[in-house]
Amino acid sequence: MRRGGAWLPREAEVAERVEESPGIVTLRLRLTDPEARRQYGFQPGQFNMLGVFGVGEVAISISSDPGDPERIGHTIRRVGRVTNPLVALDEGDRLGLRGPFGRGWPLDRSEGRDVLVVTGGLGCAPVVSVIEYIMARRSRFGRLTILQGVKHGADLIWRPRYEAWARDPDTEVGLAADVPGENWPGHVGLVTELFDRVRLRPGRTAVMMCGPEPMMRAGARELVARGFPADDLWLSLERNHHCGNGRCGHCQLGPYFVCHDGPVFAYSQVGSLLAIPGL
Ligand SMILES: Cc1cc2nc3c(=O)[nH]c(=O)nc-3n(C[C@H](O)[C@H](O)[C@H](O)COP(=O)(O)OP(=O)(O)OC[C@H]3O[C@@H](n4cnc5c(N)ncnc54)[C@H](O)[C@@H]3O)c2cc1C
Ligand code: FES
Repeated sequence: MRRGGAWLPREAEVAERVEESPGIVTLRLRLTDPEARRQYGFQPGQFNMLGVFGVGEVAISISSDPGDPERIGHTIRRVGRVTNPLVALDEGDRLGLRGPFGRGWPLDRSEGRDVLVVTGGLGCAPVVSVIEYIMARRSRFGRLTILQGVKHGADLIWRPRYEAWARDPDTEVGLAADVPGENWPGHVGLVTELFDRVRLRPGRTAVMMCGPEPMMRAGARELVARGFPADDLWLSLERNHHCGNGRCGHCQLGPYFVCHDGPVFAYSQVGSLLAIPGL
């Protein structure tokens, strides 16, 4: 990262805007300075601080493949003060970008192993870049299993992507919805119930989870009970971020700053902390 790049936003422009579903938008961003573009690189699982000029900044995961730094993908749910104007940006509009920040998924340690991805809701954004990464380097990884849970069938974004991933011969995709809605192709119930329907190989699999914390806690406990070592389970956590870079303490979780020590943690690091209500 360039000197001072952690604190000074770089200017980016919206190269492409895709309305994924009501209230969820993907912005593909391009840094306007060619030198900044050349230097920019990230790991799947890292995030950027995106800033709307005159409003503020928020942490947003990078959802694209690191092989395409010209169009840095962010999938954003409109929830409040900054995300409202962020999703309203149009192609050609400009914004501030700081990052990438944080520790991403343990891809080096996962090579040669099976990978199980378990996500809930918009939790899929931080793992989409890892799925695209694996798909683009398919021979380096074992069997890929992708389990996605949503509250309502209509909440599922990227259905064509799931269908494309499922066509890969060594990839299995399982979908679950609490409330299926019309033409729901998957399981009705919790995403963790899909563990009974797929081939799990404890000790030979890196597990990557993101989404609501109760889902991740339940999923991790269930996988440990099925023989998965806590060191093989990786969780992407969210806490309110301010500086995004290990200085302000807003994102503290016990001894960790989520922005700097995470957002991806091994379950062996954070399992006991996540069990403390309200921490
Ligand atoms: C590492 C990281 C990665 C993230 N990746 C994404 C992403 O890919 N896409 C995406 O849409 N969002 C992501 N988020 C969440 C996003 O940063 C928040 O939704 C955003 O900060 C809300 O800001 P706001 O000003 O729009 O809302 P505010 O006006 O601040 O708040 C609106 C509501 O959202 C709640 N809220 C605020 N921040 C968070 C948070 N961090 N987590 C949960 N609830 C929050 C508030 O309590 C309030 O109820 C990520 C957060 C982190 C920490
Ligand atoms: S957001 Fe400031 S230390 Fe993490």
